[in-house]
Amino acid sequence: MREQDVIELLMAQHGQIRDLFDEVEQAPPEKVAAAFDRLTRVLSVHETAEEEIVHPYARKKLDNGQGVVADRLEEENRAKRLLLELHKKGVDDPGFWDGLARLRTAVTAHARSEERYEFARLRAGTTAMERRAMAAAVRAAESLAPSRPRPGTESAAKNLLMGTPLALMDRARDMIRKALDRR
Ligand SMILES: [Fe+2]
Ligand SMILES: [Fe+2]
Repeated sequence: MREQDVIELLMAQHGQIRDLFDEVEQAPPEKVAAAFDRLTRVLSVHETAEEEIVHPYARKKLDNGQGVVADRLEEENRAKRLLLELHKKGVDDPGFWDGLARLRTAVTAHARSEERYEFARLRAGTTAMERRAMAAAVRAAESLAPSRPRPGTESAAKNLLMGTPLALMDRARDMIRKALDRR
């Protein structure tokens, strides 16, 4: 994913998140944990990047930016709560699949609202250079969320879910803030 424009990049990540939900749903039983781990990472890093980079900008720059962003944060917090609950349950819990379906519905609706109510207007109100700079900051935390399995990690349970989603979000936030400071 080499998009240079933050909106292209975040929309590509929305597509990647959708594909990762498919992967979890379609994985054979022994690969569900690894697929869910990848989904957790990509989702945690994606939402953190939006919270740190795109929402603050939209809040300042868009008409009624405060309101638009408040609605997005409410959706994001709900998705985050569902993710934390699901992570705590784990993939072997009998409620895992119902929880995954609820998470998917929340995340999909949220991504659609972002694209419709926030990104479209942000694109109209920013320069290509601003969007490029924001894309670079989003990328700062991308190493925490490899989208493909790393060789050897599929079966090595100790490498899975090393970080809770909250720990991942904290690390992503640190990396992004450092990148923003360096500018
Ligand atoms: Fe979001
Ligand atoms: Fe998003």
